[in-house]
Amino acid sequence: MRVLVTGGCGYIGSHTITDLTSRGHEVAIVDNFSNASPAVLERLASITGVRPISFQADIRDRAALLSIFQEVRPDAVIHFAALKSVGESWEQPLRYFDNNITGTIVLLQVMHECGVRKLVFSSSATVYGMPESCPISEDAPLRVTNPYGRTKLVMEELIGDLCAADESLQAAVLRYFNPVGAHPSGELGESPSGPPANLMPYICQVAAGRREYLNVFGNDYDTADGTGVRDYIHVMDLARAHTDALDALNTCGESFTVNLGTGRGYSVLELVKAFELASGRLIPLRFCPRRAGDVGACYADPSRAAERLGWTAQFDLARMCEDAWRWQCRHPNGI
Ligand code: NAD
Ligand code: UFG
Repeated sequence: MRVLVTGGCGYIGSHTITDLTSRGHEVAIVDNFSNASPAVLERLASITGVRPISFQADIRDRAALLSIFQEVRPDAVIHFAALKSVGESWEQPLRYFDNNITGTIVLLQVMHECGVRKLVFSSSATVYGMPESCPISEDAPLRVTNPYGRTKLVMEELIGDLCAADESLQAAVLRYFNPVGAHPSGELGESPSGPPANLMPYICQVAAGRREYLNVFGNDYDTADGTGVRDYIHVMDLARAHTDALDALNTCGESFTVNLGTGRGYSVLELVKAFELASGRLIPLRFCPRRAGDVGACYADPSRAAERLGWTAQFDLARMCEDAWRWQCRHPNGI
């Protein structure tokens, strides 16, 4: 298939492009580089042997997007482009609403106009808010707790209504749990701008000596060691699920929503221990109060993804840490 990937130079998009390309799909990227570097394109070329066609454009720019669609003539769209920081979304909620929701509406309009009927959409476990219990299935109540989560929920709802109104449009909504790790080559990975908000990139920077210690947000949760438990998933496993989702849309011809996680939760302290083993570095810790808005435990029931996509995660926590550390060592300042 010819696949247009919005946000394709970002963390998850770039890894997904390596999987799409290795499985014979043609890829074109649209990215405004608000959180990515064009250098990703060279890395993709050296990993895959193919330099993807890319367009620098904002998905909210309707005229630009329309002309990209007319040039590329995609069979399907994978839509990663979004702002993704929970903290920033409280500081600039209108920017988040505009970038994520307006951007998605413009994309859906242009898809409609150009007759593109297949969409894979990046959603997030954030739509479950404070889950009542774990593992979390796709039927769990949806109740978001921050403006970023609100944008994901609204976009899911818009896509759902559109598919209900027009059966020829099919969407795969993928709810990611906690993506971590990097491409095994060490040439692609996560490059947070500023101090990392998420655990794995923060640990990487402590191990590299860029930060003194890791703040552990809360050790009084109702979990085995009191620290927060999450479902970390290797970004290459996540990448593979996108190609599988495209295949499933082609074969089953109907829309679906699936969780993408391993189904196994690890605590902050377990992740730290695994990282220390993988890197041979000590991670000094400082225990602090809970972070506002955090839940104690959050991990997926991934059985629907196994049924729908024939997909299960393959990489374990050790591998997630090894690959994240390789990326950190090779590219200490990101891309
Ligand atoms: P990222 O920031 O690395 O990638 C997003 C890409 O989209 C960037 O390259 C950015 O430049 C681009 N972009 C943003 N707004 C744009 C716009 N208006 N027009 C064109 N390009 C635009 O983020 P990521 O971690 O790769 O996340 C990809 C998707 O997955 C996002 O939708 C995110 O919300 C979702 N998600 C991420 C996580 C996570 O922990 N990384 C978890 C759940 C869901
Ligand atoms: N944590 C620390 N110290 C840190 C950073 C995080 O102790 O410096 C803890 C958190 O309290 C939590 C765990 O590590 O217990 C994981 O935190 P992350 O920030 O890495 O991930 P979250 O689960 O909080 O959130 C992430 C994304 C959300 C997304 C969610 C589910 O930031 O946008 O995963 O996909 F919605």
